[in-house]
Amino acid sequence: MTLLDIETERDELARELVHAASVLAADGVTADSVLARAAAALPAQTRARLTRLTHPPRPGAGYRVVKGLFAAFGEQGPTATHWKDVDRERTARFDIGLTIVAALHGEVFGWENQQDGHIVHNILPAPGYETVQVGGSSIAPLTWHTEDAFHPDRADFLLLACVRNPDGVGSRIATAGAVELSDEHVAELSEPKLVIFPDASYEDDVADCRTSQGMATLWHRDGRLCLRYDPTYTRMLGQDDGFQQAYDRLGRQLDETSFVVELEQGDLLIIDNDVAVHGRGSFRARYDGTDRWLKRVLVRAPRARPESERREHGFGQAQVRA
Ligand SMILES: [Fe+2]
Repeated sequence: MTLLDIETERDELARELVHAASVLAADGVTADSVLARAAAALPAQTRARLTRLTHPPRPGAGYRVVKGLFAAFGEQGPTATHWKDVDRERTARFDIGLTIVAALHGEVFGWENQQDGHIVHNILPAPGYETVQVGGSSIAPLTWHTEDAFHPDRADFLLLACVRNPDGVGSRIATAGAVELSDEHVAELSEPKLVIFPDASYEDDVADCRTSQGMATLWHRDGRLCLRYDPTYTRMLGQDDGFQQAYDRLGRQLDETSFVVELEQGDLLIIDNDVAVHGRGSFRARYDGTDRWLKRVLVRAPRARPESERREHGFGQAQVRA
């Protein structure tokens, strides 16, 4: 396929997706309820073509971008200054389209205690959160993290669709496959010697009430290195200089091998949450309706993770299935 063929295919599928989402939205369907109807909303052949177009990153790659797929949904209104204030009726078609695409690749879910349990999360800067390590931050760069690293059933893939990003604020990515670590460091980091807690975007704080179970930072799957990493919300289980050195080395290597992806309006970023960590650069929000705005959907498509994760409590955070 030439680039022109790919763009033609994308534009055709985007039009069909917009049409299906528009019909569903007009019928009162939302992103939270769409999956019961999604199979009937798109012809099987269209679903198959859309599945091919939006396939997850190849093993080890960590991410991919599908350029412009959501541009056909058009203007979504001004960027709100809090996720609670997003006009979900106005963005219903976009949200439905994103959820339909996400569900082609696994089980779509949200969290009861995050963004009111909605399936589509709105990532936008919010006053008062400028320096907090959550999606609403802006001045403080969002540091490296595996999405929902605290939980054994965290997403396999996250989909981030760009509503707008007029200032070209970069999404930062680093992959496990790119880091250079000695065998000793990999062995250290494969030991369950730390605990990762839920981040500040979760609304209750049961975290500290529960017994801490150790978590491994690295593991192998099909010969490739995978990682679970969120230093901001990590507590070491005891003093261990060898482990700390390995952990620090991993952090430096992620910094050194990282790169920036600049999303434009309509782009879809798909991140493999076992292979890549992500973050975001610093920016100054204007809160005038024109700030960066992404929409996020989490997908579980279970693949092998360390056996010890099956015994984790996940800090009691319950998932909502679409
Ligand atoms: Fe994130």
